[in-house]
Amino acid sequence: MPVAEGHVEVSSGLLQRLSDARSITDGLFDIVKPEYLYERPIPERHRIIFYIGHLESFDWNLLRERLLSIASFHSQFDHLFAFGIDPVGGGLPDDRPSDWPTLAEVRTYARRIREVLDDGLRDLISGSERTKRSEFPASQLLNVAIEHRLMHAETLAYMLHQLPLDQKVRGARLPEPSSQLLAPGMVEIPAGVATLGLERDRFGWDNEFELHTESVPAFAIDKYKITNGQWLEFIDAGGYRKKDLWTDDAWKWKVERDISHPSFWRADGDRWLFRTMFEEVELASDWPVYVSHAEASAYARWAGKALPSEAEWHRAAFGTEGRAERQYPWGNSEPSREMGNFDFERWDPVSVAAFPEGQGAFGVMGMLGNGWEWTSTQFQPFAGFQKFPFYPGYSADFFDGKHFVMKGGSARTAACMLRRSFRNWFQPHYQYVYAGFRCVSR
Ligand code: AVJ
Ligand code: FE
Repeated sequence: MPVAEGHVEVSSGLLQRLSDARSITDGLFDIVKPEYLYERPIPERHRIIFYIGHLESFDWNLLRERLLSIASFHSQFDHLFAFGIDPVGGGLPDDRPSDWPTLAEVRTYARRIREVLDDGLRDLISGSERTKRSEFPASQLLNVAIEHRLMHAETLAYMLHQLPLDQKVRGARLPEPSSQLLAPGMVEIPAGVATLGLERDRFGWDNEFELHTESVPAFAIDKYKITNGQWLEFIDAGGYRKKDLWTDDAWKWKVERDISHPSFWRADGDRWLFRTMFEEVELASDWPVYVSHAEASAYARWAGKALPSEAEWHRAAFGTEGRAERQYPWGNSEPSREMGNFDFERWDPVSVAAFPEGQGAFGVMGMLGNGWEWTSTQFQPFAGFQKFPFYPGYSADFFDGKHFVMKGGSARTAACMLRRSFRNWFQPHYQYVYAGFRCVSR
């Protein structure tokens, strides 16, 4: 039942969503055998233990004073676990496991936060005197907490993806690799308008505002995401060895890291294996390839094509022959499991040709789910951008010309973040994301 308190409105539905999101992230830490919780599966990121604290301290730091008048009980941990993006400084982080609190200490801190927070949030719903009028709508702050946690549910999944298999407890559902023969081709998209962004009366992150339109000249776009099979052709054609396909930065990165294939692939004699979340399977030629922006750009250049801009991607996904645009590629109905590989249904990709019902009006397939798609657009604010005063760095820290917009979603993207305006971003030299691409010709 929604309760209006001035402009503060919270519904028990939001608390249910918070609780559901917690189940998802709790389940992720259960995948890791406890003796490996201090590992760092991705060199650029924190150790796993950090995230056990971070997910709770984030909610706590966000909601504790703004929504509820509760005192901190462990300001040292509140600070230690506050921010969880790449711990950038000069090079890679070099902290040691012994620099971190014990698992028992972190678990106790996390449990206590949930107890205190949940008491307060229940009071908020029942309109109790103990809660305060917030400067921000409570529903906005709660959505931030929920979606922040759900984003980590995805970034943690690809982090745990890199953890050696013998350090994980096997999940129940395993993928069935398929290998359909595809006829990859391009779809012509007529010139038209793409509406980007979001109206101010809806929940979205700071970088989604404001709503605006861009006109997009005609172009052609790949009907499917680029597959592992197509990536093999790029490798066989010497794609990783041809310097002119790469920017100077990308080449330097590739050489330094000695990169010659996607991080999800492993060479086994003369065949390639694909590293799924819980096992290694024969490389499925019709699954999307997951690569960094730098690799995707090299492929596009090799193919004589380009990566789509954010506006082109929008137009291909949501545009129609007429003036109308859709909320989702398939229409305006909310995401359901027949429409794509997303919302935690699976751990791993499926064929790029799966879910024909999810195609857009122009017949472009699989734009939501089964892997994010890199665009050529640098992550920058839309006109009218305003930071969230309660989280000023969420996007603004990354408007540095070194991050690129990704659109779409992966198997581990929550349904709520499949909304049209949602923008994801990463550095071009980051191979670990569930992200691939498709090309355009102009
Ligand atoms: C939006 C996925 C790029 O993980 O780096 C989590 C999300 N920000 N905590 C990231 C985020 C703060 C962010 N991405
Ligand atoms: Fe975070």
